[in-house]
Amino acid sequence: MKALSYASYGPAEVLGVGERAIPAIGPQDVLVRVCSAGVNPADWRLRNGQFKRFMKLDLPFVPGSDLAGVAEQVGADVVGIARGDRVFAMTPLAKGGACAQYAAVPAPLVALVPETLALEDAAALPLAGLTALQALRDKAQLRRDQSLLVVGGSGGVGHLAIQIGKAMGATVTALCGRRSFDFVRSLGADFAVDYADPEALRSLARHDVVFDTIATTPFTRWRHSLKAGGALVTVNPVLDKLVPGFAARLLGIARLRSIFVQPNGRDLAVLGEMAASGSLRPIIERRLPLSDGADAHRLSEAGHVRGKITVDVFDDRSGGAN
Ligand SMILES: NC(=O)c1ccc[n+]([C@@H]2O[C@H](COP(=O)([O-])OP(=O)(O)OC[C@H]3O[C@@H](n4cnc5c(N)ncnc54)[C@H](OP(=O)(O)O)[C@@H]3O)[C@@H](O)[C@H]2O)c1
Repeated sequence: MKALSYASYGPAEVLGVGERAIPAIGPQDVLVRVCSAGVNPADWRLRNGQFKRFMKLDLPFVPGSDLAGVAEQVGADVVGIARGDRVFAMTPLAKGGACAQYAAVPAPLVALVPETLALEDAAALPLAGLTALQALRDKAQLRRDQSLLVVGGSGGVGHLAIQIGKAMGATVTALCGRRSFDFVRSLGADFAVDYADPEALRSLARHDVVFDTIATTPFTRWRHSLKAGGALVTVNPVLDKLVPGFAARLLGIARLRSIFVQPNGRDLAVLGEMAASGSLRPIIERRLPLSDGADAHRLSEAGHVRGKITVDVFDDRSGGAN
């Protein structure tokens, strides 16, 4: 099969498309013929070695955790998924494997793609959507009629968090660049605030939940935007371990929670149902062929993606790889 891979940590130039063996599956795995793969900042953070102290990769490594495609082969112990089903999955970060024509995925991480969702769109949902869902539902315990501030509303995680927040019945404010005001409003945000406008930041209302999907601003900044008893959830995966609860409370943050996304087919099915009902719509800014995988990483690394970037892996019209 054709796959994007790298044999050493480094810049995007280490990426190349080559031939690899189709992965073998065990009795609890599904072999997916990948149609599209989603690109996330984790992909280039893994590639450039940023995570290597705590996440060792088996090199050469096939990047990508988000995939959507068709079940080609199903392990003997797998229930609920049959050969030919349209499926999507998030693979564990240190396993990757999405940017290849075939990927072996443990069945508990796989969900069926609803009929109304194109595979190309489904590939944009897993990692960012699971992050947003797990952050708002489990970490923040967001409730109907609460107010939610999404810091970074235009990004991969943020644009899905706006929609999930709305579907949960919250009033949503998106903090984003001015150029993205129409974009976040089109996703349902009730208010848009410019992250580059100091005056607008100073006069931000207080919210029940702040979800910081960017985490480059010191977390203490958001205490002024939180109601008493409110929750700050951050994509910094360890902040709540570094700052004990009592210290956060002293700083005016009743609940400080970090999110470290967990691959999970059940949660993915929840996202699929939301997409089928029309309450969740992944937006893809750029779709690139597998041969331009390095450019997909560069675009993500530049930090200004609006929505998602995906990579087309198998072109079903030509029966070959892109
Ligand atoms: N802990 C976890 O489990 C977890 C899971 C998923 C993601 N993450 C991390 O979360 C971060 C976001 O992921 P992502 O996929 O959403 O990234 P992304 O799609 O690459 O985010 C890009 C977006 O961020 C916006 N942005 C940049 N700086 C901003 C700021 N200061 N305020 C508001 N918006 C800003 C950009 O808007 P402009 O172009 O207008 O600047 C752009 O639209 C990454 O660092 C990623 O590694 C962590």
